[in-house]
Parts: sequence; C-alpha cells; structure tokens
Amino acid sequence: MRKRVIAGNWKMYKTRDEAISFIYEVAKVIPDRDLVETVICAPSIMLRDLVKREDEHLRIGAQNMSQHEEGAYTGEVSAKMLTSYGVEYVVVGHSERRDYFHENDAIINAKTKQALQHDLTPIVCVGESLETRELNQTNTFVKEQILNAYEGLSTEDALKTIIAYEPIWAIGTGKTATKEQANETIKFIRETISERFDAITAEDIRILYGGSVKPNNIDELLAMSDIDGALVGGASLDSQSFLKLVEAALK
Ligand code: PGA
Repeated sequence: MRKRVIAGNWKMYKTRDEAISFIYEVAKVIPDRDLVETVICAPSIMLRDLVKREDEHLRIGAQNMSQHEEGAYTGEVSAKMLTSYGVEYVVVGHSERRDYFHENDAIINAKTKQALQHDLTPIVCVGESLETRELNQTNTFVKEQILNAYEGLSTEDALKTIIAYEPIWAIGTGKTATKEQANETIKFIRETISERFDAITAEDIRILYGGSVKPNNIDELLAMSDIDGALVGGASLDSQSFLKLVEAALK
C-alpha cells in the first residue's frame, strides 16, 4: 500500500502573516502523518517560521534549492541549509523552474541527487506541454524527463523520491487532465520506473498528479489505480480548501 501525499505548492504567494495564519488554521486538524503525508512547500524565506509553528503532522518543504553543496552562489539556498532548518521536502524540476529559470534535465538530476544526499525528499516534477500532447509525444517526452532525472540513482534512492506528473497545460489554467489521462500517463511513468529500476520499485514509488486539482475533482483523481496524491498550487492557498484535499486523501 502506497501512503498518499497531499503537497501544497504556494509558489510566490503569501506574506509572513498570511503564512502563519494558515498554519494556525490547519493546526490540530491535519491527519496523522502515518495515514496521509501532508506537506506545504513554501517560499524559502517563510520556511523557518513554518517549521517552528508546524503542526505535529504537517511537514514543510521548499520549492527549490541549489544543485551545489555550498559556495559562491549568490541568492541560492542549499540542501544542507534546508535540512538544518528542519525542512523535509523539496520540489525539484517544477515546470515553472524549467521554463522561466531555464532548469534543464541535468540540473534537475543534480538537484535530485543533492536532495537525497541530505535526506530531503525530492518531489520530482515532470509533464508535457499542450503541443507535445497534441503531437502524441507525451509518453516519449515524460519518459526522457524521468530517465534523465533518475540518471545515476540507485533503487534505494529512487524509492525515497516522490514523482509529480504535472501536464503544463493543466497548471493554473483550471483545465484538469481527465482522470483517465492522468492515470494513463502515471501508469506509463510506473512502467518506465519498472524498466529502469525494477517492478517492486515501480509498485512502491509514489506518483502524484498536479494541475488544477481542487476539492471538487480530487475524489475522482484519487480513485484511480495509479494516482497516489496531488501536488496542488492554487487550491492549497486557502486553508479550508487545502484541508478538504487532505480529507479526501483519507477516504
Ligand atoms: P495548480 O498548480 O494546482 O494551481 O494548477 C499546480 C502546480 O503548479 O504544482
């Protein structure tokens, strides 16, 4: 049985007061971490406050980090810094990072390795553009992203990661992939993991769907055979909407 994960991605939203209010609003109602893994991935500047005030079952993640161990990289945050502040997860290779900050597969691979080396759980994002989907190239494209991101990883390492399949055309657009489209691609990602590692790893690795997940569509997505949870942007910003998503994962 794969434990479900609901991970909020706040992107570049919220002030300090808004972030802290959110944590107070969800405190005490986040389900037991043994039942569902609930994560908030926040801007780096908020992480310390969130970790300090975190509800015992809520986990905190970063949205990005450097692929380098340390050094003269002005403006960057390292994996070691994140873990030293009690951060447990990091989103790696989000399509916004790939598109706006020119992160390529080699950088994403280096970040994944760096996160693992410091016991951070990387949430590795993959997903195709609308053009790629319309050309029927989704599987080829996503397979390459996975193989490149997992290049050089051991089976043991792979199992410590979480994959998020986020079709770019569904992110922030209100246009969710149908549950069948999402499940089909996630199943294919599992097959890719099976070929690259082995069947047990493919069976055990958690794969989330992301892209306009809302309280009104999460049930049908989670009901699919291969979808283990969600990476959620917009609907994670409001505490009540986020809690509804977490409750859905308990069913
Ligand atoms: P969305 O974002 O839920 O607002 O579509 C998802 C994401 O970018 O992770």
